[in-house]
Amino acid sequence: MHTVHTLAALRDALAARPAPMFVPTMGSLHDGHMALLARARALADGVPGGVPVVASIFVNRLQFGPREDFDRYPRGLARDAALLEAGGCDLLFAPDETAMYPAPQTFRIRPDPDLAGLLEGAERPGHFEGMATVVMKLFQMVQPRAAMFGKKDYQQLLIVRRMVAEFAMPVAIEPVETVREPDGLAMSSRNVNLAAAERAEAPRLHATLRWLAERAEAAADPARLAALEAEAMRRLGDRGWAPGYVTLRRRADLRSAGLDDAPGSLVALGAARLGRVRLIDNLEC
Ligand code: PAF
Repeated sequence: MHTVHTLAALRDALAARPAPMFVPTMGSLHDGHMALLARARALADGVPGGVPVVASIFVNRLQFGPREDFDRYPRGLARDAALLEAGGCDLLFAPDETAMYPAPQTFRIRPDPDLAGLLEGAERPGHFEGMATVVMKLFQMVQPRAAMFGKKDYQQLLIVRRMVAEFAMPVAIEPVETVREPDGLAMSSRNVNLAAAERAEAPRLHATLRWLAERAEAAADPARLAALEAEAMRRLGDRGWAPGYVTLRRRADLRSAGLDDAPGSLVALGAARLGRVRLIDNLEC
């Protein structure tokens, strides 16, 4: 695997090569990222003649709020590079902030507030604008034929899909299933920041979503659904969590589930803080 840190070196490395498969990350890699890489490798090897697999590692300050965990976000380039190489990545793009933002990023992507203003967007103002801006920029830099996005960041996946569609970008967005620890906890780079007792408690978010998802038929009765969502939040609160939301939504647009929405078209989503760590998860149902 070859590692480059600048746009010029990236363009050199990709010159005269077919458009790659792309795995954008913020590093601190875990098995969820490795599943993205495995999907990219399989897709790349399936193209006649083969195409390269490119991964990026960049902790994007633009998508963190002023009081969020940008400084505490785990980093470790040498370990990440070794994992990527072992997983079959051909080229790692690891720019620093000057390489990614040589001048202040005054042009931004502002995703549709009807989608990006909900849930994560409501709890983390500016997050999706920063995310979409860096993804647009990474796509311009790497010019991939397809990019892998994990379903754990469900709303992010929907926003990127819609951005690519509305800007007619020639990039296929490949969703990849969430990878979980044996106890159900969704893999996340932030899990390493959980203290031992918090780590033991952390699977409760997934369990709570499962509990709600098992009652997805309640979507036909808005009052019952609201009561179940409140109960799910209370269950977390009773165990020391600070829940932001636990809710059943339509998969297509994350609007409130309602009378016409059948199980099979819904997703239970949750975000909650455990100590200093904010976890998110979701479950299609
Ligand atoms: O999902 C992530 O790791 C990030 O939001 C992404 C897509 C790499 C953009 O910074």
